[in-house]
Amino acid sequence: MTTSPVTHRAAAPHILARCRDLVRPALAGAVQRLHPWHAEMAAFSLGWGGVDGSPVPGSQGKGVRQALALLSAEAAGAPAEDAVVGAVAVELIHVFSLLHDDIMDGDETRRQRATVWKVYGTGPAILAGDALFALAVQTLADSPGAHGGAAVRHLAGTLTDLVRGQAEDLLFETRPWTGPEAVRPHEYRWMAEHKTGALLGCATGLGGLLAGAPAATVDALAGAGRHLGVAFQAVDDLLGIWGDPERTGKPVHSDLRRLKKTYPVLAALATDDPAARHLAALLGSGNPLDATTARRAADLVEEAGGRTATLAEAHRHLDSARRSLDGVPLAPAALGELLALFPFFVDRAA
Ligand code: FPP
Ligand code: MG
Repeated sequence: MTTSPVTHRAAAPHILARCRDLVRPALAGAVQRLHPWHAEMAAFSLGWGGVDGSPVPGSQGKGVRQALALLSAEAAGAPAEDAVVGAVAVELIHVFSLLHDDIMDGDETRRQRATVWKVYGTGPAILAGDALFALAVQTLADSPGAHGGAAVRHLAGTLTDLVRGQAEDLLFETRPWTGPEAVRPHEYRWMAEHKTGALLGCATGLGGLLAGAPAATVDALAGAGRHLGVAFQAVDDLLGIWGDPERTGKPVHSDLRRLKKTYPVLAALATDDPAARHLAALLGSGNPLDATTARRAADLVEEAGGRTATLAEAHRHLDSARRSLDGVPLAPAALGELLALFPFFVDRAA
């Protein structure tokens, strides 16, 4: 482990790998507690195995949430091991929420593979998500440390936020693109902070909490995670339009084609650029876009500055995440590792 107070971001892949190695046995052990059918779907989702448990090519995910939990615990002065149970719970909730989200979004591909509902069916995928949800709560509740009760309360608050954020995201789909009922950037921010930031904030907050940090430190860590979540979601939206599907593992333009209210489009429409007017006309029909129209819409979003505005928004939240930790008493070496991960939330291709 590094002893430098400021760790270069080139170290981020190694830091992530170290954290994944620490969490993997406990995560695998938790998954083994599931009904075998659900364990298979969880393993499929985590990239550990294919249908019937056979090996499968494809990405296993970087494990940023679990790393945030472990590094936050270390920054708060405890061994990373103290936060493994929190990292496992957060990872299980992450997998659960994506299983359900892919059904709600009708998405058929994730991480270069068919989504769980496409392979196993909608009912089984919903139930597997429910099983992962229950397992996450049970994992924390069974945690032998002194902070189990507070950790479960922390997770419960996160779940409430997460579900509210997802509700707003779905409701946005029913709102018009322009006019008084249009989704405003601050509404998007609230949605993203809840839908995505809540779980990242849960990871950092749980890390601090399981380390026995004072409430002010836990709050600061959780606040940093929530800002990282908004940055992450803005970039997720951006990659959905301009990302390389080979690397994102998701089909290109699927949000645009389904007329999802993503930040780049909202930011473009908020300008008075002529491209924004063309874009509004294109989207205004309310019908899903075909591939050619989606490509044209992507060009107009870029022309109106939506891509640049999205990156600027992501960087603002990255700065806010760093500022959240200013003045908080944290162990310098672990703080260095935590901060080294932050740019990963914005400068990413997948
Ligand atoms: C992905 O967003 C979705 C989420 C981050 C949250 C999904 C939340 C739920 C399904 C509700 C969970 C319920 C409880 C009780 C907590 P996205 O669709 O923008 O990302 P994607 O491009 O990766 O699909
Ligand atoms: Mg989705």
